[in-house]
Amino acid sequence: MATDNVSTRRLLLRPLSEADAEGLLAAVKSSQEELKRRLRWAGAGTGLTEERDFIAASAAAMAEGDRIVLGVFEARSEELVGVASLDRRLSSEPEQARFTIWIRSDKTGKGLATEVGRAIIEIAFKKLACHRLFVRLDPANRGFRRVVKKIGFKYEGCLRDGKRINGRWVDQECWGLLKTEWKK
Ligand SMILES: CC(C)(COP(=O)(O)OP(=O)(O)OC[C@H]1O[C@@H](n2cnc3c(N)ncnc32)[C@H](O)[C@@H]1OP(=O)(O)O)[C@@H](O)C(=O)NCCC(=O)NCCS
Repeated sequence: MATDNVSTRRLLLRPLSEADAEGLLAAVKSSQEELKRRLRWAGAGTGLTEERDFIAASAAAMAEGDRIVLGVFEARSEELVGVASLDRRLSSEPEQARFTIWIRSDKTGKGLATEVGRAIIEIAFKKLACHRLFVRLDPANRGFRRVVKKIGFKYEGCLRDGKRINGRWVDQECWGLLKTEWKK
């Protein structure tokens, strides 16, 4: 999957390059506690090597057409404030993709994830010819649940103890959005 850079009201979404490794590390470190609670990778080692590896793996997956991974940058300061991805490796149908996002903890609560989510949906349906987007979320993740609902996803059910995050079993709510029900 590939996409051009995308500008929203306050943000620029673009693929990460090696030059972003330090900014990425700073954002991850500043948000470690919240990320560890929600995302499996955040429990592993964190350092420049890991961030460079992540950026290289993301570029390779994008070149393969499996995934898009976009850095989320504040347009004004050019600071990296998060990462969003669409991943179609997680479905047997290539027109289905899973949306994930994180925003650095000191920038949450300002509507940034909502702004990114709307842009990602537009990329998925208009440029990548996706048919269905989905997310999996821990019901305790009230912030993400609210974002997903605000941007139009519908609740589909719950996988009990659907995932183990850093040693803890958590339910996984399934939310989906079809292209046919997307209201721009
Ligand atoms: C989840 C996350 C992406 C939200 O980012 P954000 O930029 O704060 O999101 P927004 O500001 O666009 O929207 C958050 C909404 O949730 C609401 N919210 C936040 N915490 C809440 C809580 N504990 N209970 C209820 N609502 C809550 C906010 O009020 C806001 O809704 P509103 O606009 O109606 O007021 C961010 O907290 C994060 O990165 N968390 C860690 C990683 C993660 O969980 N990612 C999702 C799984 S892939």
